Amino acid sequence: MTKSLRLPRRRFLLGAGGFAVAAGAGWGATFLTVYQGRRRSNVGRLSFRNPLRIPGLLDPEPSPDGRRHYRLTLAAGTSELLPGRRTPTWGGNGAYLAPTLRARRGDRIAVTVRNRLPEATTLHWHGMLLPARMDGGPHQMIAAGADWQPSWTVHQPAATLWYHPHPHGSTGSHVYRGVAGMIILDDEHSDHAALPRAYGVDDVPLVIQDKNFHADGTLDFTETELAESVAGADNLGVLGDTILVNGTYDPYFEVTTRRVRLRLLNGSNARVYWLGFTDGRTFHQVATEAGLLARPRALDRLLLAPGERAEIVVEFAPGDEVVLRSFEPSLHLGFPTERFMGGDDTFDIVALRAARDLGSSPALPTRLDGAPALVEAVPGAARRRHFEFTGLQINGKTMDMSRIDEVVPAGATEIWEVERGDEWVHVLHVHGAVFQVLDINGKEPPPYVRGPKDTFYLHEFGTARLAVRFDTLTDPEAPYMYHCHVLRHEDEGMMGQFTVVRPGTEDRAPRIVAGGAAHHH
Ligand code: C2O
Ligand code: CU
Ligand code: CU
Repeated sequence: MTKSLRLPRRRFLLGAGGFAVAAGAGWGATFLTVYQGRRRSNVGRLSFRNPLRIPGLLDPEPSPDGRRHYRLTLAAGTSELLPGRRTPTWGGNGAYLAPTLRARRGDRIAVTVRNRLPEATTLHWHGMLLPARMDGGPHQMIAAGADWQPSWTVHQPAATLWYHPHPHGSTGSHVYRGVAGMIILDDEHSDHAALPRAYGVDDVPLVIQDKNFHADGTLDFTETELAESVAGADNLGVLGDTILVNGTYDPYFEVTTRRVRLRLLNGSNARVYWLGFTDGRTFHQVATEAGLLARPRALDRLLLAPGERAEIVVEFAPGDEVVLRSFEPSLHLGFPTERFMGGDDTFDIVALRAARDLGSSPALPTRLDGAPALVEAVPGAARRRHFEFTGLQINGKTMDMSRIDEVVPAGATEIWEVERGDEWVHVLHVHGAVFQVLDINGKEPPPYVRGPKDTFYLHEFGTARLAVRFDTLTDPEAPYMYHCHVLRHEDEGMMGQFTVVRPGTEDRAPRIVAGGAAHHH
């Protein structure tokens, strides 16, 4: 990992002074203490004694109206996240996290979201292709005590998605308190793929989150220590030193089959994980965010930034025990930011313990039929847009709820050039679209990135080129979002809005969200 001293342009405008302060006398010693204390790890401190909790599954039969009805009640509660301590938390149909929703392509879905939280919120279906008014973004606020009933038809391939609140300015705290759940979409191809599929048995959701706790068990929302802010590293929000998986502290999972499919979701506010196994074993990635890969891909490490998902298949021998670990990720942030943003951290995530007798599993397929086609764009012909992620802004602008930043023709595939203009952690997410990363600074992206995606860690200072395919549903008035998925950045306005309109009507489309300002906090 190179720890370059390259300073990004504009850092001095952003980092509370950045290194300008570093020259000051006495500061060096403080800095050194803080710097040394900020290499975090839980390795050697866990005993993997708590059975991994598996979120409940909502998989309703269709009603006489032909729709599948899902009911989610968001409410505050108390959870025992750490042994013997009571933590006030939020959740869906329970005190912490929310059930996994299962649906399949072609389903007509109706959800009733009852907001019994003490605050207004929204519920966003991250990765779902659906009408903008059903998207659960910042314009679909649900007042405290109110209900919201979105409905749509699933029209996308099998994939692992998730859902979480998206109220402008408060997404970070609502997710951190615990409102998040997974969504599993199936289709006719995933039905026939030779992949493990028994939920919670050999097809296992892993919602990975980092937290900080006060001694009394309450969640610690503290974002910054003064000395750290001097180093310009105070902008990530919470970076926790305690890992929870599906809300389980110090977890193990008992493996009962030869092969297990893990659906990995980084549900953390800001932390990036570099996942692999403690014995270095190879595993196979079978899906990126937006669907299956045509060919399972052998890997020994995989990067997972906030909001990203990956499906992997891991093979076990009887009696195996191995730990899924996050090794030091290469965030490419330079010194000292790399360390302050988690680049030197190592965390054990969950132990996997195989029984002495393992049930058989299908052999790993060499191809997955019906995997979604790659998103391709004709360079030169495709419309290009450029987005610079610097500080807490995109293209020098802060999110304005009433401003429509981009208007996109329905069904278009465009080239989006996404530039990381500084050395902070930024994660691109685009609603209502599927993309493929073409290159990063002209080079081929790392293997785990290749596939259909909706969320992407901006790996390097410089520009990544993406082929982005937009959905065909139109609404000139209701926008979708694109933003940084570091939740603090998103809350601070590192977000833009776009509408998808009938091709040829772009010039006539409104550039202002009617009533949008009313929602502005
Ligand atoms: Cu996962 Cu716009 O969000
Ligand atoms: Cu989203
Ligand atoms: Cu960011």
